[in-house]
Amino acid sequence: MLQYTYYGHACFLLNDGQHKVLADPFLTGNPMAAIKQEEVACDYILISHAHGDHLGDAPAIAKRTGATIIAIPEVIGVCEEAAPGIKSHGMNLGGSVKLPFGKVRMTLALHSSGVAGGIACGFVIQMGGRTVYFAGDTALFHDMKLIGRKDSIDYALLPIGDNYTMGLEDAVLAAQWLNTGHVIPIHYNPWPVIEQDVERYKEVTEDSTRAVVHIVQPGETIALE
Ligand code: NI
Ligand code: MN
Repeated sequence: MLQYTYYGHACFLLNDGQHKVLADPFLTGNPMAAIKQEEVACDYILISHAHGDHLGDAPAIAKRTGATIIAIPEVIGVCEEAAPGIKSHGMNLGGSVKLPFGKVRMTLALHSSGVAGGIACGFVIQMGGRTVYFAGDTALFHDMKLIGRKDSIDYALLPIGDNYTMGLEDAVLAAQWLNTGHVIPIHYNPWPVIEQDVERYKEVTEDSTRAVVHIVQPGETIALE
């Protein structure tokens, strides 16, 4: 059974009972943070790009826990500068890697990277019998259809806050193009500029796609059934 815990904004933890995979751990300074960076436990940390609201506390958490950071090499460089000696695994777009908990594929994202030479990405994570697509920060792009065709997506974690990423309408189309069974909205509400009507998003998505939308509160854990 794969469990999903939401820590607020774009930060979440996947736990298959044996392994813990954390993503985009922006906790210090995050008004929605449901846990302190000193308290997070994890084995791996996925980072979608180097903006502060994603890379966040990753270097400190990797140093304290011994977790391995998985990211684009330029983003790993930022982490190593902040916390020399941390464990890391560099990847790039289109590449896959098998890991003790399953498999990770690094996908396109349409967004700036936050570090010179870097590029923003998303991840398709196969873990605990589920396929989870974490879109990172991104605009809508047509190749989401390819992502959905290559990997049958069970759960898509999609930004819906608008301004910096997809907004409501584009995130509905993303759910449709990915042909995902479930959507968990992320990256909305910590600040007024990305406030979003998540109930409306759920309503429109469920009316116009096959996806069920799960609104998960910071601090809440759900089973990805
Ligand atoms: Ni960003
Ligand atoms: Mn962001």
